Amino acid sequence: MAETFDLIVKNGECVTPAGRQSFDLGIRDGRIIGMGDLSEDKAAETFDAKGLTVLPGVIDSQVHFREPGLEHKEDLESGTRAAILGGVTCVFEMPNTNPSTTTIEAFNDKLRRAEGRTWTDHAFFIGASPDNVENLGFLEKQPGCAGVKIFMGSSTGSLLVDDEEALKLALENGHRRVAVHCEDEERLKERRSLIEGINDPAMHPVWRDEKTALRATHKLIRYARTTGRRVHVLHVTTAEEMKFLSLHKEIATVEVTPQHLTLAAPSCYMELGSRAQMNPPVRVERHREALWRGVATGIVDVVGSDHAPHTLEEKAKPYPNSPSGMPGVQTLLPVLLGHLSTGRLSLERLVDLTSAGPARIYGIAGKGRIALGYDGDLTLVDLEATRRISDSDMATKSGWTPFHDMEVKGWPVATIVRGQIVMRDGQTVGDPIGQPVRFQETLAGAQARL
Ligand code: DOR
Repeated sequence: MAETFDLIVKNGECVTPAGRQSFDLGIRDGRIIGMGDLSEDKAAETFDAKGLTVLPGVIDSQVHFREPGLEHKEDLESGTRAAILGGVTCVFEMPNTNPSTTTIEAFNDKLRRAEGRTWTDHAFFIGASPDNVENLGFLEKQPGCAGVKIFMGSSTGSLLVDDEEALKLALENGHRRVAVHCEDEERLKERRSLIEGINDPAMHPVWRDEKTALRATHKLIRYARTTGRRVHVLHVTTAEEMKFLSLHKEIATVEVTPQHLTLAAPSCYMELGSRAQMNPPVRVERHREALWRGVATGIVDVVGSDHAPHTLEEKAKPYPNSPSGMPGVQTLLPVLLGHLSTGRLSLERLVDLTSAGPARIYGIAGKGRIALGYDGDLTLVDLEATRRISDSDMATKSGWTPFHDMEVKGWPVATIVRGQIVMRDGQTVGDPIGQPVRFQETLAGAQARL
């Protein structure tokens, strides 16, 4: 008997857990309920994906959208609009806003602000601070919460857990995987004098050197072992951390960014100046190659953009007063597709890093693969399209990208969130329909949908 769907995506080559398969996908009430030849079935809308590759919706599990408090850099609407234009269907937003997301009130405020204004599905991290460590086990259980984020070294904003007792308490309070920024605050302070009065962003990886990152990562893993807590090490930047983390995969998962996989010192600082400044820093070629080895050998679980917009005016301040961070949510997938076209990674690995990986490590319910019963989140790409990434196409309020002028082969041409087409050929479609992400460990949101 013919079925009726809300949307049929037909004739695409779908990247599924069983491999690449050419078939139609039928979505109803936000979920994939038909896979195969659906030519006899009916749908309110049909998308002909002939010649296109259909990926599970890309999940960017590390973005900074600046709302509340710093909306001149970004807000939830502009950040998620940039995301869908880049093929991203789901984002996890970081807690270093103003105020920081450290309380139930600040967390609920973000969820309220997101209602009717996000183009992607969304989850928010709770920031750990010495003031809320005892409460983290409660906070991480809130529906729509991605988990806890710890800054071991100071970066943008005021969030910091730099003493060992607070770190231990933060890891003891709660169960879900904790996302961690690993830079050692004490060493950052010791070495800060190296950059005083030297207006040169190329000094950034000298100040925040390899040992700064490695020391924090060692400390984190030591406490993760003693407390039995799973951790996720964000934006790993050194060969030494990659090797070390490969020995601790039972408790530690690993993330890298497109910036660290693509740029390298010193050329990035010569070409981009403080636009290439981020924490932890972009380092020399040896480290970039080690990150790629981590991708090739399976150490890396996730690629996240660490979308961290700052205006060009702010970036133009003399280093080190220039803020750290680069926009990236819109270029995450295009840059990775560029690497795919040059043979740096396979399509299957790309999907593992951008959807299956985040779903696996954070326990997302119903996302991360093209499978029956899963959310109808799809990213349609044209692997043959050659395009140039350009500042002028960026939807971020900051209005620039470190990848300006880079030519890539492979481009997202449509973004579908729970069966609704929200981007087609570089244009938004309809209204922002984003909803909180559901997690396996806090399924309250899912119950409400049944
Ligand atoms: O470079 C960075 N910028 N690293 C971070 O950890 C924070 C981010 C931001 O929020 O600007």
